[in-house]
Amino acid sequence: MARITAGVASSHVPLLGVAHDMGKDKDDYFGPIFAGYDWTREWEKQEKPDVVLLVYNDHASAFDANIIPTFAIGTGERYRPADEGWGPRKVPDVIGHPDLAWHIAQSLILDDFDMTIINEMDVDHGLTVPLSMMFGHTDAWPCKVIPLAVNVVTYPVPSGNRCWLLGEAIRRAIQSFPEDLNVQVWGTGGMSHQLQGPRAGLINAEWDNMFLDKMIGTTDELRHIPHIEYLRETGSEGIEMVMWLIMRGALGKETRCLHRHYHVPCSNTAIGHLVLEPVE
Ligand code: DHB
Ligand code: FE
Repeated sequence: MARITAGVASSHVPLLGVAHDMGKDKDDYFGPIFAGYDWTREWEKQEKPDVVLLVYNDHASAFDANIIPTFAIGTGERYRPADEGWGPRKVPDVIGHPDLAWHIAQSLILDDFDMTIINEMDVDHGLTVPLSMMFGHTDAWPCKVIPLAVNVVTYPVPSGNRCWLLGEAIRRAIQSFPEDLNVQVWGTGGMSHQLQGPRAGLINAEWDNMFLDKMIGTTDELRHIPHIEYLRETGSEGIEMVMWLIMRGALGKETRCLHRHYHVPCSNTAIGHLVLEPVE
């Protein structure tokens, strides 16, 4: 049977991709940010996941105002890094796991989550930056990746509770796949940030740390935070954090924290990173 062995949460700031690709990850500005991922890179080398189900949002790269899927799963063989304006990042193509992805799609849809199924798309910084943060420079990503894209850009976006429930359904889906696979679920985006308008640059470290605290242990309070609280406390783009709740829901009743990192600022954003283990 496939097993969910861990959950990883991380911000996905595009500037980190630039810093990584240009070798600036040890300079004064980026050094303390990247240092918080050193532990995880070593841990991932031991863990060797077969598959990462990577929850992220597309930022008008694969989708635009014409098509706005609330939840979409990638069932393709391969995904290329998107051109976000400066040419595609020179990072490896992302290799999918169509068999597991189709199994998850079927299980979720029969479990009443009406997923959009995507066979072809390019993947943007929301997906490739976390891969670089966790795996560093490489000619090929060390595992298969199933992209799960969430609309957190155009309202109405899904509630935190809906995301948590989707995570629970993902757990049932993965655990019913007959092959013995080591699967991690990653949730990306956040933490507090606002990229636009008079409050651009907003960061709320106290609220972010409350959120980090409550990802750990048995509490499920985070699923009940309303959209207006994300907007007020964490800025217009803080809503990306509902994607962490998909990962949290997939880990089951209780989590243990293996690693935690928080740093402000990075670009306009508060960097948050967690490695969690399900407590069975
Ligand atoms: C930034 C953060 C994001 O999450 C994003 O998608 C784009 C930009 C930033 O802080 O610059
Ligand atoms: Fe983002």
